[in-house]
Amino acid sequence: MQNNTRHFAAIGVLVVIFTFVVYWILDLVLLFPPAASVQAVPIDTLIQGHLWLIAFLFSLVVVVMVYVLFLFRRREGDEGEGQYFHGNTTLEILWTVLPMIVVIAFGYWSTVILNDISRRPDNEVIVNAEGYQWGWNFSLPNSDTVTQELVLPVDTPIRMDMTSKDVLHNFWVPEFRVKQDIVPGRTTYLRFTPTIEGEYTLICSELCGLNHTGMVATVRVVSRAEFATFWNQDVQTASSK
Ligand code: CUA
Repeated sequence: MQNNTRHFAAIGVLVVIFTFVVYWILDLVLLFPPAASVQAVPIDTLIQGHLWLIAFLFSLVVVVMVYVLFLFRRREGDEGEGQYFHGNTTLEILWTVLPMIVVIAFGYWSTVILNDISRRPDNEVIVNAEGYQWGWNFSLPNSDTVTQELVLPVDTPIRMDMTSKDVLHNFWVPEFRVKQDIVPGRTTYLRFTPTIEGEYTLICSELCGLNHTGMVATVRVVSRAEFATFWNQDVQTASSK
């Protein structure tokens, strides 16, 4: 028993160390683009939480496996059979209940964040987007101007109202983190608030035919004044009540 406690302690320490190492590697490898929307911040926190969980579970499995394989391997001259045992009720309850709690907790956390980022804000600016094979058209609801680049005001809640001329497409700007399918025959919505002025790339993220990878558009996040000049319409007029 004394010996078992020492093994458990050693495994515990190794799992903790490995968790940090694996998280560090994941963080190094998964290069995230800058977070350029209000919604990107909680989403990144959620992703980091998942990365920690992944790092821990990976370490738990691999450390225990390698530790046991190495320390309890057959020694020279050992011809005996392993000890026979059947089932372990405590262990089975633990490995059923603990993962269940983890899954429910992460599910709850994700739901809270999803609710938070899709809530309707006051005075959101509505921008229409139309996807087609293979390009994008943008316009404001009360304007006839149609553009191929998407110009958005900074620090302003945006609601994209999106339609498709033909097949499924998907609106995705990696820096904003959020994405939404565009479905023929109906309007889908996507809410986000850009926080950093600059140029981004809108990428179609739903396989939509031969030139799917070419279905990109420039997104320019500009000051509210520049937005007003560009669309000939100020942010207040563009906002819904
Ligand atoms: Cu549109 Cu892929």
